Amino acid sequence: MTTSNPSKQEFLAVLKSVLGESGSSPIALHEPNIGQRENELVSKCLSSGWVSSVGEYISEFETGLAKFTNSKHAIAIVNGTAALHLALHAVGVKPGDEVLVPTLSFVATANSVSHCGAIPHFVDSDPETLGLDPLALREHLSANASLRDGELHNTTTGRRISAVVPMHTFGHPMQIAALIDVAKEYNLTVVEDAAESIGSFVGKVHTGTFGKCGTLSFNGNKTFTTGGGGAILTNDDELAKRIRHLATTAKVPHDYEYIHDAVAFNYRMPNINAALGCAQLSRLDDFLSAKRILAKKYAEGFSSARSMQFVTEPHGTTSNYWLNTIRLNKPDLALRDELLSAARADGYMCRPAWNLLHTLPMHESSPRAKLPVAQNLWQSLINIPSSARHYLGQK
Ligand SMILES: Cc1ncc(COP(=O)(O)O)c(C=O)c1O
Repeated sequence: MTTSNPSKQEFLAVLKSVLGESGSSPIALHEPNIGQRENELVSKCLSSGWVSSVGEYISEFETGLAKFTNSKHAIAIVNGTAALHLALHAVGVKPGDEVLVPTLSFVATANSVSHCGAIPHFVDSDPETLGLDPLALREHLSANASLRDGELHNTTTGRRISAVVPMHTFGHPMQIAALIDVAKEYNLTVVEDAAESIGSFVGKVHTGTFGKCGTLSFNGNKTFTTGGGGAILTNDDELAKRIRHLATTAKVPHDYEYIHDAVAFNYRMPNINAALGCAQLSRLDDFLSAKRILAKKYAEGFSSARSMQFVTEPHGTTSNYWLNTIRLNKPDLALRDELLSAARADGYMCRPAWNLLHTLPMHESSPRAKLPVAQNLWQSLINIPSSARHYLGQK
């Protein structure tokens, strides 16, 4: 560690004190933790021959997820992107609609809107939660949209704005209650992108259960994994039934005939992934505890830092601390990149926040609000290693 920049020194010193030396292989940003139980259940699944979209682990996994999130229904899906696509389709997003999404998000949030033939309409972030800012959204809609016959329209493009997709950034719950109020005022359907926030709560209510429906991801980089995987949560019986049907090619049950009554999707999670999911779900509380210890160590470590702060869970919420994050005291791309390069050179796999979605070539002509906060955050945020393994089993 040779450096003269004090910001770099303080950054690397905290990483080293919390994570230890990186050794011969780099310390990942977030890696899965696969144990004996995972091996047992996946082997059992393989031996049973039920490896595809039917099998006991799918229903067991869905029941476990519904219980953990206190959601009436959980439908296991092949991945978080497909879950979001299907959720938007099922709630009635139509080709040519606009859907409000935060520009500070992973690309799947906007792509899933495009997969519906709709257009993402980018909105700004809250500097505290890092999620969509409900007050900035209200201001934007009051100046740029109008309600006609109960439907919201963009006054510039004339298009219907049918839904909003809040996202809980890096696992930190956004201001969902305020967002629901704005959505009611403007007759918008809320589909929560909770891909990053399994185990994150507002009060005692799990993220992803506030809107009409919510989606999760169990990609290998998430708090727990099914290899690839996702889920849709909803408390709406009719919607759950429709989603289940649409996720399995809209096949009407029959002993031998192929009857399908809609153009639908093959999006159901395979049983073999669900077997892995059942084992991982049984260890979720341990992962969450270990991640809270890691976050606490980081918070202590960065408390005396002069040029950066550790991002903590918003007041009144419990975050899963999926990806631990520091924020520079002021936006500074050069410093951000210097810290990233130095950490990576020392074996700590840090990452910047995603490039803002409205700047990506396929979304650059999409409508947008003013985005000053997201621009600042993009230049200020760094994700730091966050795997549960560092403090697993510790109290
Ligand atoms: C915010 C957000 N939305 C959606 C997704 C998509 O999930 P998946 O990778 O399972 O398709 C992810 C994660 O990868 C994500 O971080």
